[in-house]
Amino acid sequence: MPLDIARIRSSYPALADGYAYLDGAAGTQVPSSVVAAISGAYLAGLGNVGGSFPASRRSGEMVRACRTAVADLVGGEPSGVILGPNMTTLTYRLAEALSRTWADGDEVVVSRLDHDANIRPWVQAAARAGAVVRWAEVDPASGELDAGQYDRLLSARTRLVAVTAASNLIGTRPDVAGICRKVHDAGALSYVDGVHATPHLPIDVIALGADFYATSSYKWSGPHLGAVIASPALLEALHPDKLRPSPESVPEKFERGTLPFADLAGVVAAVEHLARLDPAAEGTRRQRVIASMTAVEAYEAELFRPMLDGLDAMDHVTSHGRPSCRAPTACFTVAGRRPVEVAAHLGERRVNVWNGDNYAWEFAGALGIRDGGGGVRAGVVHYNDRSDVDRFLAAVAELATGRL
Ligand SMILES: Cc1ncc(COP(=O)(O)O)c(C=O)c1O
Repeated sequence: MPLDIARIRSSYPALADGYAYLDGAAGTQVPSSVVAAISGAYLAGLGNVGGSFPASRRSGEMVRACRTAVADLVGGEPSGVILGPNMTTLTYRLAEALSRTWADGDEVVVSRLDHDANIRPWVQAAARAGAVVRWAEVDPASGELDAGQYDRLLSARTRLVAVTAASNLIGTRPDVAGICRKVHDAGALSYVDGVHATPHLPIDVIALGADFYATSSYKWSGPHLGAVIASPALLEALHPDKLRPSPESVPEKFERGTLPFADLAGVVAAVEHLARLDPAAEGTRRQRVIASMTAVEAYEAELFRPMLDGLDAMDHVTSHGRPSCRAPTACFTVAGRRPVEVAAHLGERRVNVWNGDNYAWEFAGALGIRDGGGGVRAGVVHYNDRSDVDRFLAAVAELATGRL
């Protein structure tokens, strides 16, 4: 069923400021239900987990509910959901634990398409373990990551392949399921960065073949929190550094210190919000999430098309990459203007966008834009509407030579 965008927008208090929030790739706004869940958790009284009084039991329940909600959003089992401050921190933690199982001469494959958070932790861990790093390359013209190259990159020595489900710079969605099949044929593990993909489409970590799938709730209308989903059996076999008295159990042994319990309640509310986007969706929360995210994907594609066509129609604009399958995120440069100036101009016109390499450091280098200040990134999420896109295009059009 089509999304009721007016209803959805009215559930986001921040949108009332009149800005076009096209900066969702760097973090989304949150609906009032998320704010209410977080404040409700504090108002009800919170204790640390493991105590024998109600406030402590409530926190324990929030942890369980949060793992279940994340598993409903992306698939997998609640007991395989590791919670933590953000994707970068969790990826460093997993890289540290996984690299203990690597030997001199083992191999790790990273991709030039990825955010640096799914590159550097592996490159640094490989250096410590004496492992060799192999690079999957992007085609700078299309912005695609060819899955065929993994036939050459994988070997009997490959231990791990890190790849993104969607580029945070231009939205490219590589054939992750195809890559993961090759990874498993080679006897290696896959670590899929789902931070940019999760807000834009239905995700099934099992169908993708992701041994590890990382996501960040602040990209899908939740609070600042990250999660990595893996099979509990796989996590059992790993031994992260941990404190002596902290739990040995999975996934707790990967979670350092105290979790932000109230924020976990906010994550649950965010998943509920996503599950309710398609009001006609029925069944379990997982089924409603899939129906709603399918509707989100269709709506965003419809909204993104005029945005991209509008950029393409402007002679003073270069839109980078032309991937055949993409999340609704564009990166462009404007003739004679530095990306930072373009973003500042759009800010004056009440349009929020980002400029720079957006931490897709390798990819921005491959596109040839890193040294010139990167690009301007704009994208849509489910709470954007046509007026956001039109205001954005009108503001970019003003930058044609001689007009401003
Ligand atoms: C694709 C992608 N991966 C990883 C990250 C890092 O996520 P976090 O801020 O949760 O560490 C980001 C953040 O923008 C991202 O867009």
